[in-house]
Amino acid sequence: MLDKSSYQPYGLEPIERASRDEISALQTQRLKWTLEHVYKNVPAYKKKFDAAGVSPADFKHLEDLAKFPFTVKSDLRDNYPFGMFAVPQDKVVRIHASSGTTGKPTVVGYTQNDIDTWSHVMARSIRASGGRPGMKVHVSYGYGLFTGGLGAHYGAEKLGCTVIPVSGGMTERQVQLIEDFKPEIIMVTPSYMLAILDEYRAKGLDPRKSPLQVGIFGAEPWTNSMRAEIEEAFDMDAVDIYGLSEVMGPGVANECVETKDGLHIWEDHFYPEVIDPETGKVLPDGEKGELVFTSLTKEAFPIIRYRTRDLTRLLPGTARSMRRMEKVTGRSDDMMIIRGVNVFPTQIEELLLRCERLAPHYQIELTRDERLDVMLLMVEAREGAAEAESHSEGAKLADLIKNNIGVSAKVKVSAPGGVERSAGKARRIVDKRPKA
Ligand code: DLL
Repeated sequence: MLDKSSYQPYGLEPIERASRDEISALQTQRLKWTLEHVYKNVPAYKKKFDAAGVSPADFKHLEDLAKFPFTVKSDLRDNYPFGMFAVPQDKVVRIHASSGTTGKPTVVGYTQNDIDTWSHVMARSIRASGGRPGMKVHVSYGYGLFTGGLGAHYGAEKLGCTVIPVSGGMTERQVQLIEDFKPEIIMVTPSYMLAILDEYRAKGLDPRKSPLQVGIFGAEPWTNSMRAEIEEAFDMDAVDIYGLSEVMGPGVANECVETKDGLHIWEDHFYPEVIDPETGKVLPDGEKGELVFTSLTKEAFPIIRYRTRDLTRLLPGTARSMRRMEKVTGRSDDMMIIRGVNVFPTQIEELLLRCERLAPHYQIELTRDERLDVMLLMVEAREGAAEAESHSEGAKLADLIKNNIGVSAKVKVSAPGGVERSAGKARRIVDKRPKA
């Protein structure tokens, strides 16, 4: 844990303290540039704008953005691999791609300026998390086409930290390196942090004595209960980082360690909107809906009104003047409809963490019995909990789910280690229902 009694945010940039008017003026100017850039250089955007009867000249104020069409994942797939790039290929210095669950990956590209911008917002994110030049940063996000590893890496270097580029997997070695190299910071998915925690315990090491002071966790939804679990286990600060490949990668928004009250969106580079996912109407700040992003400075892969499918709401700034997004509770794709009730994995996580004899690992299997959906929740006993006790906790969890969410779940409690682990994003839902 960082010492909060003497904690001072360090090295704030003027924009992190700017007034709302200054931020809006910058966004208006940058949005204008971006709309012109895509209209001129990306035929797919020109076609969409023309079909909607809008042109960059129709944009005068921030509210005018609502006149422009949304971009969705299938637009990227239809233009696979490089059709949405806005610069000649010889200006593209890096490609990333997100695997997606079906079909072709979505491909994104970066100019040198884009890489510099990304490193800059990532450095700002690590700094907001309590990182300082000279600290060592252990990066366990995957390196490769996934944006997590390299995004974190460049940001940590830019801030002046010492990067330890471990990537995901080989959990024993992760623990060994943390103990030997003594990083103050770890960047990893929260679910893989739990696997690292298990390994600490399996080795008989006390995780509270680990050198880690701060964890920068993201790439998947996680709850405040999970935050409390990890902070207590490692005696560390756990902060949330958000991002997506289509918009940049990690570092679109980040929590400040001194407040941990939601993620400040780096609004000088990414313009957020929250819309009603059914009607597409822009919702006022404070109302929950689907998050939509427009890039403000990207050259190679600018993106207009990208529908993220992530559900959250926009809140006013606190520790920084840029607006916050509430912790993402889930993606619309992850919403399960169990006998008519909408359920997100994070709601299950919240309740699971109330059961002391159960470990925080879980996976949900969906099957269909006749025409009704059935949810099987697979959890495991905590190390050291007696079998009978952990089974009665399983029954307790089923009751909690029934009483709090209103759906019936079968809970299967296995021995420690019985639930699938992942070295990156956890697979929370295994959908075995027949395809319609
Ligand atoms: O996951 C980028 C990233 C890497 C973010 C490392 C943070 C840390 P994609 O693979 O394109 O990019 O997946 C993006 O992951 O739309 C969300 O659904 C989810 N996601 C990312 N961060 C969070 C978070 C990276 N903090 C998708 N909370 C997004 C909840 C998150 N969901």
